[in-house]
Amino acid sequence: MTLVVGLTGGIASGKSTVSKLFKDAGIPVIDTDTIARRLLEKDKEIYQDILDFFGEDVLTPAKEINRNKIAQIIFYDEEKRLKLNKIVHPKVKDTVFLKIDNLKAEGHTLIVVDVPLLFEAKFDAFMDKTIVVYARKKDQISRLVSREGIDEDYAKAKIKAQIPLSQKKEKADFVIDNSKNILETRKAFDKLLRTLKDLSDS
Ligand SMILES: Nc1ncnc2c1ncn2[C@@H]1O[C@H](COP(=O)(O)OP(=O)(O)OP(=O)(O)O)[C@@H](O)[C@H]1O
Ligand SMILES: [Mg+2]
Repeated sequence: MTLVVGLTGGIASGKSTVSKLFKDAGIPVIDTDTIARRLLEKDKEIYQDILDFFGEDVLTPAKEINRNKIAQIIFYDEEKRLKLNKIVHPKVKDTVFLKIDNLKAEGHTLIVVDVPLLFEAKFDAFMDKTIVVYARKKDQISRLVSREGIDEDYAKAKIKAQIPLSQKKEKADFVIDNSKNILETRKAFDKLLRTLKDLSDS
């Protein structure tokens, strides 16, 4: 059978790092961030919906949607965040299901879906198994600060805006601890990959 696995975690906990390990191991990874970004492009139907809701202020001079601007707006406005989710999430889901079908038709028996908001968007219900990439809060903060050049308070606020990683850990079928160095993560990954392959008979 085909096993569809949802990969998630907290902000800067290491989702993309683990997603790359899957790709390097030849496992197809569907990246919902990339899908969402494509859906916002000028020629796509969501573009107009976003403009209708947020107004022209969220456009760059080249008339592209400025995702950072939207991110800032919804960070402080719950109602707008929910509305944005209502516009974007269903389309992302449709695209993911289509991609899963195509990969199944190609004969893949293990498929990973990278969904930062897996539990928040209740997308876990569509996954056979879920993985949470875990890092301690202090790791998330220091990685955010060094990667994005933001200050520690803003990094903390960003982390606070999500479901606590400890809760996501409870919900997950599997946890990869990415608190230590990348070699340790790799070891945990190799072990998990064997388990997933066993489950999927691939
Ligand atoms: N085990 C590790 N040790 C040190 N740095 C790490 C480790 N894992 C990841 N990083 C670094 O931390 C940052 C966040 O990792 P990554 O991009 O994989 O997280 P993410 O969960 O995908 O983040 P985002 O929420 O922004 O998508 C990156 O700069 C990455 O290189
Ligand atoms: Mg990422």
